[in-house]
Amino acid sequence: MAKKTPQDGPTLTVQELEAAHLARFDLGPGYPQLPVPEYVTRIYLDDRIEAMSLQTAPAWTPASQASMDKELDSAVRAFIGLPTTAGRDEPPYLRTTFTGSTALDRVVSSVKRFARAVKAPEIDVVTTTPSIDIMRLFLEEHAEIKPHFVESRKRNRMGALDVDRLRTALRAAKADRRTLVCLLTSPENPTGEHWSEVELRGIAEDCVELDAILIVDHTFAVSGVQSETIPKIWDLAPSGLRWLATWDTGKTFGLNEDKLGFIVAGDRGLVDFVDEALAVMQFGVARRQKLFFTQVIQEAIDSDYLGELRTVCRQNLAVLVKGLKGTSIKVRKPSAGSMALLDFSATGYTDEEVRQALLRENVGVISGNVFFHGDWVPRSYVRVALARPAEHFADAVELIAKRFAGSAG
Ligand SMILES: Cc1ncc(COP(=O)(O)O)c(C=O)c1O
Repeated sequence: MAKKTPQDGPTLTVQELEAAHLARFDLGPGYPQLPVPEYVTRIYLDDRIEAMSLQTAPAWTPASQASMDKELDSAVRAFIGLPTTAGRDEPPYLRTTFTGSTALDRVVSSVKRFARAVKAPEIDVVTTTPSIDIMRLFLEEHAEIKPHFVESRKRNRMGALDVDRLRTALRAAKADRRTLVCLLTSPENPTGEHWSEVELRGIAEDCVELDAILIVDHTFAVSGVQSETIPKIWDLAPSGLRWLATWDTGKTFGLNEDKLGFIVAGDRGLVDFVDEALAVMQFGVARRQKLFFTQVIQEAIDSDYLGELRTVCRQNLAVLVKGLKGTSIKVRKPSAGSMALLDFSATGYTDEEVRQALLRENVGVISGNVFFHGDWVPRSYVRVALARPAEHFADAVELIAKRFAGSAG
């Protein structure tokens, strides 16, 4: 029996594990599951990486370490469009960790350290719902953090980001002797909505005015159905803004849990706390991973990997829309990211009933209710991953259409 959250059914991760382990058509996890480009296999099998990974002094020198770190830094900055700097000690600062979740966890720890240092240890975090459940789960682990969930349903459209509501909530949460944080995910998981440049700038300006820290999870910022124009906090942060951002390789490359996570810090005042928080958890990340991802990212840039991934996601989205046309299931098209939501409300089934029914058909999907964190919890959405091989994906869509062909409409 899957473990329950206090709120409801199995958590996102538990559902993703069930999809991965039980379903032949696994549309659960948001990580790409695609045949890897030739260069990934080549880099995996590269003896030079193996040899360098195992070197110790005197063969491995401080200069080797510095040069390896610099190459990874340059590759990541080029890939995600983060401005390059003369060195590690200039903003925006880039730090490496194990995964996207670790990056988020350490960002929360950094903010707590900052809050204690400014003698305002109690923290209000204004964030959005629906959003990935680890946001809520991370925040709930800390007694001194009070989360405020702002509903994304502008003009009654489920998932539509509502900048006015968010800015109002930020102002309402501002309190003396408490630290204020605004936590955004852009693009949002599971809806694929993203903050526009004007909206992000407006929120950032409010954060300056309210002396709040802005955190943006940009995990899906470069990978998915979008063109390369998702606004990123590092391109528009006004001066005086305290900001942190995260990105990781998992949602872009997949690679079955071989991944790295990254934290970007906008200013010296925060990066010192990030460095402290990272040092609690890590001496460093595997040298092998650093060497591997430096090369993978460099080749991905040269070969337009992101363009290919975008094409796969867009084509599969079109297959999904076409394949479900004759049914009463509605596809909620994402504007970014590599996931789509299906609305089963006209079938009369709940998200969890749909997930269980599809698991029996060998198709793994995610119940949408895990993404809702307040009183508003629609029960008719399920999430499917788009970054899958075209034929395999089309077969899964056919199974979904067949299973729900006779449902009410
Ligand atoms: C928006 C977002 N941030 C962070 C994470 C965590 O990343 P990881 O699974 O690499 O730890 C996820 C995972 O799906 C995510 O969707």
